[in-house]
Amino acid sequence: MVDGVNSSLLDACWGKPVERVPVWFMRQAGRCLPEYRALRERYGMFEIFRNPELAAEVTMQPVRRLGVDAAILFSDIVVPLAAVGVGVELQPGPVLAEPFRTPADLARLRPLEPEADMPYVLDTVRLLTAQLDVPLIGFAGAPFTLASYLIEGGSSKTLGRTKAAMHAEPAFWSELLDRLADMVIALLRAQVAAGAAAVQVFDSWAGLLSPADYRRSVLPATRKIFAGLEDLGVPRIHFGVGTGELLELLAEAGPDVVGVDWRVPLDRARARLGDHVAVQGNLDPAACLAPFDVVAREATAVLDANAGRPGHVFNLGWGVLPETDPDILRRLVDFVHGAQ
Ligand code: CP3
Repeated sequence: MVDGVNSSLLDACWGKPVERVPVWFMRQAGRCLPEYRALRERYGMFEIFRNPELAAEVTMQPVRRLGVDAAILFSDIVVPLAAVGVGVELQPGPVLAEPFRTPADLARLRPLEPEADMPYVLDTVRLLTAQLDVPLIGFAGAPFTLASYLIEGGSSKTLGRTKAAMHAEPAFWSELLDRLADMVIALLRAQVAAGAAAVQVFDSWAGLLSPADYRRSVLPATRKIFAGLEDLGVPRIHFGVGTGELLELLAEAGPDVVGVDWRVPLDRARARLGDHVAVQGNLDPAACLAPFDVVAREATAVLDANAGRPGHVFNLGWGVLPETDPDILRRLVDFVHGAQ
């Protein structure tokens, strides 16, 4: 315990031994919880994000119900884009009124001043850190994933337009990613100043890139982010989906923890990453739709693949599926805690 806060999550992120493997779930706040659904009948997403009491309540719902070792701020990766005036709605995925299509659009991405542009997020962090007895994880989207929403104007299976811009307009591309990196640094520094104890950078769609393209066109921006957070002294987690072939590059960006999706066994991930970085993951979220004996078997396989090495944060390999029974997640938390 540090300052009354359970720090097994932080210890594991720093590669220190822990008594119980810490566990939390990406997208643990949200649609799998009936109490969240009830709130959503009355409030829109941005109404919740912009109301610190409501956002703090939704952040705490999974901590209370599931017994996880960390809270993750209830917000969305597109909130800072909206805060600098980019028109974006959640329907439920992000949809932009005017996608970025030419270099002139860069003018619409002014620098973020977190305290002035999104005080509600920082007030939410302050409210939470005054109440929580587990660490609060702040987060942001990574430049590539944010750029994909700006350029596509919404979700895309191929990211065709995004990659076309990356290949054909390198000056526009690097300026866009650099501005987004600065935005992420400002946002995460402000979240930590307000009390967040760790940060996660979600590069959800990076797995659509080849290693060569990631290295050339994306790594400079993500590296800038992790370097720009280093002096804060909080664990920095870097996660992407389908990044089996990019794991070493995610680590090269400079985080303390690499999030691994369910496709890469943790022993293989650790062999590729070496000992100086911790890992987070990686139960297949779909396993949680099965009866609990199956969930326990699959969770055991994850723990066995890590083989008790320090520096493991148990998580799913991606976000909780909305149809997941929260009781299964509660039992999974207890199971992981009891496993050593
Ligand atoms: O516990 C938590 O993690 C909740 C906080 C959170 C949300 N979005 C709230 C949300 C977090 C960490 C995010 C991150 C996010 N948002 C990512 C990265 C994580 C990932 O899943 O890869 C991405 C790519 C987005 C963009 C986004 N926002 C999408 C694609 C969608 C729709 C589909 C979906 O995954 O739910 C959203 C909407 C959104 N953001 C919801 C929530 C709870 C669902 C809105 C609703 O219907 O209530």
